[in-house]
Amino acid sequence: MRADLRRLALRRGAALAALCCTSVLAQDRTPVTPGVHDALATAGPQAGHIGDLWNLTVFVCTADFCAVLLGLVLALWRSGRARVEDAADLSSVGRHERGPYRTVLWSVSVSIALLFVLVFASVLTDRALARLSLANAVNIEVTGYQWWWNVRYRGDQPSDTFTTANELHIPVGRPVVLKLNGGDVIHSMWVPSLSGKKDLIPGRTATLHLQADQPGRYRGQCAEFCGYQHAFMAFEVIADPPERYEAWLASQRQPAPEPTDATVRRGQEVFLGSACVMCHAIRGTIAGARLGPDLTHLGSRSTIAAGTLLNRPAELARWIANPQQFKPGSNMPATTLSSADMGALVSYLESLQ
Ligand code: CUA
Repeated sequence: MRADLRRLALRRGAALAALCCTSVLAQDRTPVTPGVHDALATAGPQAGHIGDLWNLTVFVCTADFCAVLLGLVLALWRSGRARVEDAADLSSVGRHERGPYRTVLWSVSVSIALLFVLVFASVLTDRALARLSLANAVNIEVTGYQWWWNVRYRGDQPSDTFTTANELHIPVGRPVVLKLNGGDVIHSMWVPSLSGKKDLIPGRTATLHLQADQPGRYRGQCAEFCGYQHAFMAFEVIADPPERYEAWLASQRQPAPEPTDATVRRGQEVFLGSACVMCHAIRGTIAGARLGPDLTHLGSRSTIAAGTLLNRPAELARWIANPQQFKPGSNMPATTLSSADMGALVSYLESLQ
């Protein structure tokens, strides 16, 4: 009976571990999003505050651990040695031993004091995070879906508003206010080098403040288990100097360029004549669906499928032909095309710079 229970528990444990790891291990691939993904390599004030708290916590806990071990070694060293034939010394039963009693009292007091230091430091960190000046902030709306990120930049004019996916561009040295929403289930936004985590909850709007002080590419990742492809819900934050950021904004606000050569024109026909238009939008064409990522400037992004594959023609073609091979359970169906049409479609999509 006990052996049966043990076997059942083992099987349950193995099933749970498998569920957590399947999306990474079973498909033999790792997310490709380039960029720094390191909470200790901080590149902005918000991540810096969190990094300081981490350093303090590591220092306090290490000192605490060493003190406990030292106490243990000292206690063993100083305790009397008894021989086997000696009768047990029960004289201290029922009364306080003053030495050990005081030592335990001191140790508990110091431990509690150190824990309060950490609580105090956490509160100070929280307040420091809330103090980021938001003057001249960039506002970006991010909605998490299974399993990609919808990113919307609002402009002063309605025509300046545009949508992109799985990539955030921000100017260096300016605060960024992210308005976060959950489109289906709960996701969590995390760019370790720039900020802490924040949940995206359906029906609620949360905000996350961050700032990059150094230009660079920073990898972000969904940090809340949100289904089978949770591990493949990555994104990239590209922090650029202000002029480069403004240039990127200006180019993203433009509708997709009209095809100039025959292959690309054929690719646009394939796109508009296939099931792609049921889910995707390309501004400047009749494709305006919002179920999947906006593809208006797909060619300018470094990855596809939320950091699952590099954005190169061969990968894009394989992705369109059979998305389930790379991201089982995602909502994108396979598209069957002749190789000529697939080539033209990929040329068209990659031309959307
Ligand atoms: Cu979205 Cu995990």
